[in-house]
Amino acid sequence: MKIVVAGTGYVGLVTGTCFAETGVTVTCVDIDKEKIKLLQEGKTPLYEPGLEPMMKRNIEKGRLSFTTDLEKSLEGSEAIFIAVGTPPGEDGSADLQHVLKVASEIGKNIKSYVVVVIKSTVPVGTSEKVRKIIREELEKRGVDIPFDMASNPEFLKEGSAVEDFLRPERIVIGTENERAAEIMSRLYKPFVLNNHPIYYMDIPSAELTKYAANAMLATRISFINEIANLCELLGADINQVRKGIGSDSRIGNKFLYPGPGYGGSCFPKDVKALIRTAAEKGYEMKVIAAVEKANEYQKNVLFFKIRNHFNNNLKGRTIGIWGLSFKPHTDDIRESPSIYLIEKLLQEGAIVKAYDPAAMEETKKVLGNRVKYASDQYEAVIKADALVLVTEWPEFRLPDLKKMAETMRGKVIFDGRNIYDPLEVRKAGFTYYSIGRK
Ligand SMILES: NC(=O)c1ccc[n+]([C@@H]2O[C@H](COP(=O)([O-])OP(=O)(O)OC[C@H]3O[C@@H](n4cnc5c(N)ncnc54)[C@H](O)[C@@H]3O)[C@@H](O)[C@H]2O)c1
Repeated sequence: MKIVVAGTGYVGLVTGTCFAETGVTVTCVDIDKEKIKLLQEGKTPLYEPGLEPMMKRNIEKGRLSFTTDLEKSLEGSEAIFIAVGTPPGEDGSADLQHVLKVASEIGKNIKSYVVVVIKSTVPVGTSEKVRKIIREELEKRGVDIPFDMASNPEFLKEGSAVEDFLRPERIVIGTENERAAEIMSRLYKPFVLNNHPIYYMDIPSAELTKYAANAMLATRISFINEIANLCELLGADINQVRKGIGSDSRIGNKFLYPGPGYGGSCFPKDVKALIRTAAEKGYEMKVIAAVEKANEYQKNVLFFKIRNHFNNNLKGRTIGIWGLSFKPHTDDIRESPSIYLIEKLLQEGAIVKAYDPAAMEETKKVLGNRVKYASDQYEAVIKADALVLVTEWPEFRLPDLKKMAETMRGKVIFDGRNIYDPLEVRKAGFTYYSIGRK
C-alpha cells in the first residue's frame, strides 16, 4: 500500500513514520526545502522522543521517503493525508490557506482514484471546501478522476506523539462511502490490534470532535486554575482539593493540574477557532469563551507573584527560568506560557537567564539575544535573584537546593507547576511560591 503525507511537522512526520513502520510505503511532502533536505539525511527537524530512530529505520528499509514533489509522490498512492498547519487567522478563525493550497495541488496532479484525508485540525465544512477546489481543478484539466474525502483528526500529544500514534485510545474517521472507509480501515488495522476502537462517523461530526476534545481539555485546565486561585484567597490547598474531586469517577484525576495557563500549538488556537465557528453561525460559546478569558488571566499569575515579591520593581533583577517549551518532552514553544512570562519580565527591565533541555534553539529564533541562555539548569540560577520553574521537565524535579542556595543571590523559588514540596524548599532557606497552595 502506498500513501502520501503532506506536511512534515509534528503531526505529518509522526503520521508518515508510524504508517511506514507498519509496512506502508509513505512519501512525505513539504514545501520547506531545508526541512526536506534534513529529513532525507535521516535527521528530524523537531524534538519528539523515539521518532528519529524509527524514521531512520524506515528510510533504510525503503518505506519512507521525503520530497517537495507532490505530483510524483501521488502516483499510485491510495490516500493522501493533509497534515499541514492551520494557524489562527487575525479574527481567531483557522487559517486554511495551507490546506487549500494542498487541495489545489491535488486537483492539478492526481491521475487515479485517491482518498483525500484531512488530518489537520480544521473547522466543520473544510472537507467540502477541499472537495470543491479539487473538482474545480479537475474540471480545468478536463478530466473526471474519482476521489473521496475523509476526515481523520489527530489526537497525539507532543512529547509522546509516537507512542500515542502507535497505540491510540481511539481513532476517529469521518467518511462518506464504503470505498474510502475500506482504505482507512486497512491503513489503521495495525493500530487497533489492542482492541481500541475506530469510530466511523459523518465528516462534520469528525471535524467537530477534534475541537470538542481540545475545548474540553482546555476547560479542565481553566477550571482547576480558577479553583487554585480561589484556594489562595481562602487558605485551602489545591493539591488536596484536586485529590478530593479527582477520586470521583465522574470527574477523574487526569488533566486537573493547575499551572501558568495552557499553551502550545493547539489549545489556544483551537479554542479561538471554535468560538469563531460558532459566531459565524450566530451562536455564542459561553463556556468556551470563559475558558479562554480565564486562561488569558492565568498566563499572568506567575508574573504577578514575581512582581509583588520584588515590590513592583524588577529593573535589573536577574530571573532564572527553568523550562521554555509549552510542556515537557517537546521543543515546541508556540504559545508557551514561559515565553509569555519572559516577555513580561523583559518589559519590566528584568534580566532573564533561561534553560530548557530541548527548546533552546527554538527560543533563540524568537527571543534572540534579549535573554541569556544557560548551558544547564544550575548555570541559569547563578547569581539569580529568583528561580521560576515554568515547564516541569523531569530533570527539574529533584534539584540540588543546597547548591542553589550557595550560588543564587536571592533565595526565592516560584514553582509554576507545584512540583516541589513547600516544606523542603523552605527548609533549604528559600521563600517559596506555588499555585493554589498555602
Ligand atoms: N502539534 C500537535 O500536537 C497537533 C496535534 C493534533 C493535531 N494537530 C493539528 O495538525 C496540523 C499540523 O500541526 P503541526 O503541529 O504538525 O504543524 P507544523 O507547523 O509543525 O507543520 C506543518 C508543516 O506543513 C508544511 N506545509 C505548509 N504548507 C504546505 C504545503 N502546501 N504542502 C506541503 N507542506 C506544507 C510546513 O512547511 C510545515 O512543515 C494542525 O492543523 C494542528 O492543529 C497538531
